[in-house]
Amino acid sequence: MMRDGHRLASSATRRLLSRNGSLRTEGGQLWIEGLSSRELVERLGTPILVYSSARLRDNIEQAIEATRACAFPIRIHYALKACYLVGVVGLVREAGLNVEVMSEFEYLLARRIGFAPDQVIVNGPAKRPEFLERVVTDGVALMNVESLPEIAFLDALGRRLGKAIQVGLRINPLPSRHLRGPFAPPGSKFGFDVPTGEAAEAVRRIVRSRALSLRAVHCHSYTRQYSPEAHRAHVASVVKFVRQVERKLGIRIPVLDFGGGFGSRSIMEANGGPLRSFIAKMTEPLAGLSGDREIVIEPGRYLVNDAAVCLTTVLSCKRNGRRRWVLVDGGRNILPPRKNAEYAVVPCEVRPGRMLYHVGDFLCMPSEPIPLSFVSGPIELGDCLAVFNAGAYTFSMAQSFGEPIPNAILVEKAEWTWLYRKRSIDEQCRDLSGHT
Ligand SMILES: Cc1ncc(COP(=O)(O)O)c(C=O)c1O
Repeated sequence: MMRDGHRLASSATRRLLSRNGSLRTEGGQLWIEGLSSRELVERLGTPILVYSSARLRDNIEQAIEATRACAFPIRIHYALKACYLVGVVGLVREAGLNVEVMSEFEYLLARRIGFAPDQVIVNGPAKRPEFLERVVTDGVALMNVESLPEIAFLDALGRRLGKAIQVGLRINPLPSRHLRGPFAPPGSKFGFDVPTGEAAEAVRRIVRSRALSLRAVHCHSYTRQYSPEAHRAHVASVVKFVRQVERKLGIRIPVLDFGGGFGSRSIMEANGGPLRSFIAKMTEPLAGLSGDREIVIEPGRYLVNDAAVCLTTVLSCKRNGRRRWVLVDGGRNILPPRKNAEYAVVPCEVRPGRMLYHVGDFLCMPSEPIPLSFVSGPIELGDCLAVFNAGAYTFSMAQSFGEPIPNAILVEKAEWTWLYRKRSIDEQCRDLSGHT
C-alpha cells in the first residue's frame, strides 16, 4: 500500500515537473517559479523548505473552482494544522478561504493572521473550558462538540451567559473499513459513533437543552483520500444519519461539515480523479435532503502539500548490504516519517541513468527508506535533492531534534521572502535553559 502510494507520488511528481508550471525542470535543473534551486541553495543553504506562492494560489483556485461541481453552496475552511507558516496562511486568507482549527493555539494564530471569528470552525476531541467560553463569546462560525461532558458544559455556559449557543456534532457513521479508511475506527476518541446509538443520543441531549441548538453535523473520517467513490460513500453515510434524526425529532440541521482528508492535488490529478470529481460525487447523496443547506469542507493537505519542496544536501553516499544509500541533511525534524507522508525525491540536477537509491537522514534513528527512495543517475556527495510534497504536516509537526527547525521561504516569481528563520545556537540554548 505504502509502496504503491510512493510510486504514485513519484510519477505524479514527474508529471508535475514536466508541465512547465511553478515547479519544473528546465536546463537540467529544478526551478521554483523564477528561481533555480541551485541559486537558492547557494544563497541560503540546506535544508530549506521552499513554498511556491503560484502553486499555492493555483491549488486554492482549483479548490474554489471544484466547489462549483456541486449543486449546493460549499464553504471551504482550510485546516490550519496542515501548515502554520504565517506567510502561507496569509495567502490562503487573502484568497478568500476560511479556516478550521483544532486548539486554542491554532485559534489565536488564525485570529492574529486576520481571520474573523465567523470565518473559524473549531474542532478537537477535548477542549479547555476557557477556550470553549472564548469561542462562544467571540461568535465563531461553528464549534463541533465531541463528548457528552462538552455538551453539558456548553449547556451550563449558555444558561449562565443567557444566550443560545449553536453547536455542531461530530459523528462517526462508520461505513465499511474499505470506504472509511483508518482515521476514526469504531470506538475512537473522536465524536460519537452512529451504529451504537451514541450519536443519536447526543443529538437528543442537544435538542432537549434550552441553551443549545444543533446547527451542524460534522464528520472527518480519512486522510489522503484518492477515491471519489469513497468520498461519495462518506457523504451518503452522514446524510443518512441527518435524515434519520431530522425525521425522528422533527428538527432541521442547516449545515453539513464533511471535514477534510482529500489527497494531494498533483497525486489526485495523476490518479485521474481531480477534486472536482470528488465534489461532483457529493451532489447525488445531498439531493436527498430537503431545503437549503450549507456544505462545509476542511481541506489541509490538498491546498498546501505539493506547494512546497524541501531542498536537502547529500552528506554521505554508501553501500550497505544490497542497499545504495544517500544520507541527507534534511532530517526527520522537518520531514516527519509518518505513515501517510507522500514525500517523493528528485535530484535538483537531472542525471541520465537509472539506479535505485535509499534516502536516510543524518540522525541516529533508524531510517525509513520506503517512503524516501528514488531512481536517478549517479549521485555524489554534495548533490542537492528535492523532496516533493513537503508542504503539509511538515513545518506544523517540525521539532528541534538533532538540529533546529530549518529555514522556510516563500517564492513569488523571481523573489523570495522569509517564512521562518532557523534559530541561532544562542537562541536555541536560551530556550533550552529556560531563560527569556
Ligand atoms: C477535523 C479535521 N478536519 C480537517 C483535517 C484536514 O485533513 P487533510 O489535511 O487530510 O485534508 C483534519 C486532519 O486531521 C481533521 O482532523
